[in-house]
Amino acid sequence: MNNLNLAPIKTDQPTHLMPVFSRQPISFVRGRGSYLYTEDGTEYLDALTGIAVCGLGHAHPVLAETIADQASTLIHTSNIYEIPWQTAAAQKLAEVSGMEEVYFSNSGAESNEGAIKIARKFGHMQGVSTPRIIVADQAFHGRTLATLSATGNKKVQEGFAPLVEGFIRVPFGDIEAIEEAALHHPDIVAILIEPIQGEGGVNTASQGFGYLEDIRRICNQHNWLMMLDEIQTGNGRTGKYFAYQHTDIIPDVVTTAKGLGNGFPIGAVMTQGRAVGVLTAGSHGSTYSGTALGSRVVYTVIDLIQKENIMANAAKIGAWLAEQLRSQLADQQVIVRGFGMMIGIELPKDCAELVNIARDEQHLIINVTSANVIRLLPALNMNQQQADDLLQRLLPVIRNFLNAS
Ligand SMILES: Cc1ncc(COP(=O)(O)O)c(C=O)c1O
Repeated sequence: MNNLNLAPIKTDQPTHLMPVFSRQPISFVRGRGSYLYTEDGTEYLDALTGIAVCGLGHAHPVLAETIADQASTLIHTSNIYEIPWQTAAAQKLAEVSGMEEVYFSNSGAESNEGAIKIARKFGHMQGVSTPRIIVADQAFHGRTLATLSATGNKKVQEGFAPLVEGFIRVPFGDIEAIEEAALHHPDIVAILIEPIQGEGGVNTASQGFGYLEDIRRICNQHNWLMMLDEIQTGNGRTGKYFAYQHTDIIPDVVTTAKGLGNGFPIGAVMTQGRAVGVLTAGSHGSTYSGTALGSRVVYTVIDLIQKENIMANAAKIGAWLAEQLRSQLADQQVIVRGFGMMIGIELPKDCAELVNIARDEQHLIINVTSANVIRLLPALNMNQQQADDLLQRLLPVIRNFLNAS
């Protein structure tokens, strides 16, 4: 393996890139499964997978072959023609989700834009002229104008006023606050919520997934759409295909992206029940929606998740990791939470520097979100030996950091 096809990197010149990302001083030139490699061949254990994207690991051979085959057959036509792979991918997604209709987008934010449009149009169809959507504190729904307005993080919104109107914010996990909002706002038409808040700190509701059951009940009572943002929690991450499948409920709208393409940029917004038929010809679309290549990637990713026992592995290895972290850090003031391969370790103090420490001292790739939460989003097919390796690298990093102060 080499990177002969890459243009040479000139480090002494301006990059011409807009500086929207704070980048770490490292680049990876190849990956395999749960490992990433720098140009000199140094190996890093990847417990982040591009922030919950490469659930099947890096360079999955079947996916790589599928992409190469489809790229050399047909990449894109247009949605003014039938696209058989798009239909096949939608069928697969409907099968694993229980949803009825699928629209393919190009990112998570764009999937949520679709959901927000569905909610507003649904409202207008009921005669609500100023439809509003309930969203949560600390939510993250993306960086387009509507989705950053729905996001519960002032830093994401800073400098972009006027924000898109029509969002009512409640504390995450607080059912009474939702009931209270219903009393004061007759124009609410939907709730948009993450089953587990990813960027916000791997936050789970105190009532667990029972929270989703309560939201379903309230949405039924008020004829609101229950819309779940499963961009981070979906595609096997929590040990079920979608997180709501830990319950018996089904939402009206589900958005996903990230693991859906395993690194290929594609997302989806799905509807069932009352949300079906809201978006019609001419009311939504995108040039790249469900290209032949993107759709075949989705079909193959879902097929691999099903055939390679990925969800059961994510549930088992994720539970083992969380249990080990809890028991081996029992003497420290840490809180471990999450589901499957979505694990947050809340520390008693801000710990952003642990990203660099883990990377440089242990060759371990992790993330810190919400200032003091270490976020682990490993490949869903990580095996027991690799999970053990992850712990051996991570535990000393946490212990040394907490014991140093
Ligand atoms: C829950 C959630 N929603 C939406 C998004 C936005 O997705 P994208 O970055 O693909 O636009 C993210 C990304 O982190 C996310 O975690």
